[in-house]
Amino acid sequence: MDLTAERLANIAPSMTLSVTNRAAEMKAAGEDVCSFGAGEPDTDTPDHIKAACIAALEQGATKYTAAAGLPALREAIANKLMVDNGLEYDVSQISVNCGAKHSLFNAILAVCDPGDEVIIPSPYWTSYPEMVRLAGAVPVIVETDEKNGWKLTAEQFEDNMSIKTKMVILNSPSNPTGAMYSRSELEAIAEVALSEDIVILSDEIYEKLVYGDTEHISIASLSQEVKDLTITVNGFSKAYSMTGWRLGYTAAPEKIAAAIAKAQSHSTSAPTTFAQYGAIAALMGDQAPLNDMREELDMRRKYMLSRLNRIHNVTTIEPKGAFYFLVNIRKIGLKSVNFADKLLSRYKVAVVPGIAFGNDYTVRLSYATSLDVIKEGLDRFEDFCRSY
Ligand SMILES: Cc1ncc(COP(=O)(O)O)c(C=O)c1O
Repeated sequence: MDLTAERLANIAPSMTLSVTNRAAEMKAAGEDVCSFGAGEPDTDTPDHIKAACIAALEQGATKYTAAAGLPALREAIANKLMVDNGLEYDVSQISVNCGAKHSLFNAILAVCDPGDEVIIPSPYWTSYPEMVRLAGAVPVIVETDEKNGWKLTAEQFEDNMSIKTKMVILNSPSNPTGAMYSRSELEAIAEVALSEDIVILSDEIYEKLVYGDTEHISIASLSQEVKDLTITVNGFSKAYSMTGWRLGYTAAPEKIAAAIAKAQSHSTSAPTTFAQYGAIAALMGDQAPLNDMREELDMRRKYMLSRLNRIHNVTTIEPKGAFYFLVNIRKIGLKSVNFADKLLSRYKVAVVPGIAFGNDYTVRLSYATSLDVIKEGLDRFEDFCRSY
């Protein structure tokens, strides 16, 4: 007898986590593994953020907060959105959630009814389609082209719309491709969304990890009409090395914000109270650790790009943000899981198979790891590719 709900029958466990776990097990067993699997920064949370959390804990910040989070944190977020993104939100439009993953899940749950369609450009972050399915809605996966920088075009968006389309999910900078949408690309997409009142779910978790002179643009900042259709998601995990703190947030039109707070009030109640004090310090405190981390990541990014460009039989786009390369392995002639398995067992290099992101002819390499590991790992990666 199957005791589990049908709701979960077709939901795949997170593949990005499983590869990292396997590499970690091999490392724990004493094997010399170079892991490009990391989905989180390789630095610790800055001290002043930890200190604010510890102080809050010592001062008794150990009870529930409002479902949508501490007012002081929501004010700090509203201020951040104004200063960084040109977005004016009332505190009532902001919800603090248990990680940006939870923010995205809340947002999908708040907007989508069973049977609604959600447009997801592929390659996508691994959890989007599963979250949509968990809400009873239907993911409509739209393949993007490496030649177009793995970005959804307004035409592709329009061609995949139906009467049931309720939402489109955008992720700029993108995990897994590092791609970023320009203002004109966002304007074209927004115009299509406006034509049929499609809700835009904009995942901006990598906003602070942007390199060179590329500008991050929040799609909600394009106009009041676009803002009225957009849920902006952001968080603390990547910019402030706070993945374990589980804090993210949504900024949304009033009605959607109220629905998000309602969903949260009946699931997690609120995010962890003392962690929220750390998040206030993250936003209001010294940004030097973030700037240092970005510089370090940029140095690794440039190194990897020059190496990957010289490896025979693979291609990649230059990532403008986040900390990943999506490498096209089609010419090698192996599918992504087979490629990743062989690479790990023969050369002890861990990469994430692209099938986790909807593309079986790619693998993702994270550069949230030391330059030494990157150098050695790429030597082995190159040897492996050359053997085909
Ligand atoms: C694109 C994207 N969105 C959201 C998240 C979730 O972030 P959090 O750790 O805040 O839940 C991640 C984490 O890997 C991500 O890559």
